[in-house]
Amino acid sequence: MLLLAVSAAVLSFFIHHTSAKAVFAHFMVTNSGNYTTSTWADEFALAQTARIDAFALNMGVGDSANEQGVADAFAAAAGTGFQLFFSFDYAANGAWAESDVIQYLTTYGSNSAHYQYDGKPFVSTFEGTENADDWTSIKASTNCFFVPDWSSVGAAAALELNGGIADGLFAWSAWPSGDLSMDTSTDTSYVDALAGKPYMMAVSPWFFTNLPGYGKNWLWNGDDLWYDRWKEVLSVEPEFVEILTWNDYGESHYIGPLREGAFAAFYYGGAPYNYAADMPHDAWRVTLPFSVGLYVDGTSAISQELLTVWYRPNPGSACATGGTTGNSASQGQEEFQPYDVVEDAVFYSALLASAPSSVSVSIGGVSQAGTWRNVPDSGVGLYHGSVPFNGNTGEVMVTVIGGAGTIAMAGDQDITTDCTNGVENWNAWVGNATGGLVSATA
Ligand SMILES: *[C@@H]1O[C@H](CO)[C@@H](O)[C@H](O)[C@H]1NC(C)=O
Ligand SMILES: *[C@@H]1O[C@H](CO)[C@@H](O)[C@H](O)[C@H]1NC(C)=O
Repeated sequence: MLLLAVSAAVLSFFIHHTSAKAVFAHFMVTNSGNYTTSTWADEFALAQTARIDAFALNMGVGDSANEQGVADAFAAAAGTGFQLFFSFDYAANGAWAESDVIQYLTTYGSNSAHYQYDGKPFVSTFEGTENADDWTSIKASTNCFFVPDWSSVGAAAALELNGGIADGLFAWSAWPSGDLSMDTSTDTSYVDALAGKPYMMAVSPWFFTNLPGYGKNWLWNGDDLWYDRWKEVLSVEPEFVEILTWNDYGESHYIGPLREGAFAAFYYGGAPYNYAADMPHDAWRVTLPFSVGLYVDGTSAISQELLTVWYRPNPGSACATGGTTGNSASQGQEEFQPYDVVEDAVFYSALLASAPSSVSVSIGGVSQAGTWRNVPDSGVGLYHGSVPFNGNTGEVMVTVIGGAGTIAMAGDQDITTDCTNGVENWNAWVGNATGGLVSATA
């Protein structure tokens, strides 16, 4: 009997540690001021369809949306299997008081919808290195599993803060410099420094912000990023992935739906206009079940061929830059013109069961044959490529002729030199199309 019990405990310990891979999305609670529990429930259902396990609830100190938002979110998550944890933001409005952090974790940490790791309530931060000492008593009071983002000091220094109080680390490092493609050098430095402690890897599709009221106005290269970064997840194999973000409209890296009543950031941040309006990113979620399946299970089935397409609506030199820089000195970077870090091109990723015979992109009726920058080794999986604007404007059509038939997508946004308020929109329009039914495994 005793032997059996011990074996079961060892076995469950072993299983726990080999199956912990999980995918989270960063959620800005500040944008939820107009949400009801049914809005939250809708968000959770969309996230679950995309194989996201939990939202990291980002909260700045004293934000008026915090208390009701968190209460409604936990109420809506009950019984759905979707989970939540806190990401305390120490940069937005200053440092959190230790007692407030303890109170949130005491109230919600044992809620059935709170994400647990190793039987402990999981918790993260955005920055807060100067408050590292607070976590001695926070951990003692709440028994939390603590995975902060302390990127400002780097992995090695973060691991030394408060005698190594962090149980793992999150690196807020999801975008490449200049016109380069993203690589895994930062991820690798974290994994090495962590020496077996869990790493949380950031994955993001885009970054453009023009909110001078918050001192932010820059663009990072997101051209091939959504494709590249998920491939990098498969090579790094982190314990956790956090998608940046579900609903940060002001930084243009949302993958959740556009919601009227959630756009206050454009007003308070003094944006030249709402550059997320009519710029849906939902189609970036369409390939997630496949990508998450490869990451979590090591294999993914394809039952239908799919196409996701993204492009900026304005050629890079068509209008005024809006003061937007490519990269940002505020992030310690050399600055470029924004049009020098991104390409004027239509980008596409297709989930296919076999090699396609062709891909073509037509802009304003001018058709160009496309190429594939990336092809899956087995022939089954995600194919990715792009076609330059080549000076064309007008309606965008992308057509892939795959083994299971034609997949064609017509863009809702034309490419135009007629920019809103005369200022470039550096955000991406994202759309998708559905192809034939197939039965294949990658
Ligand atoms: C809620 O909606 C109103 C009306 O659209 C808007 O003025 C307000 O800024 C919204 N609040 C948030 C937090 O987005
Ligand atoms: C885009 O993907 C969504 C989610 O899979 C699907 O419901 C929708 O029909 C797709 N759109 C098109 C035009 O195929």
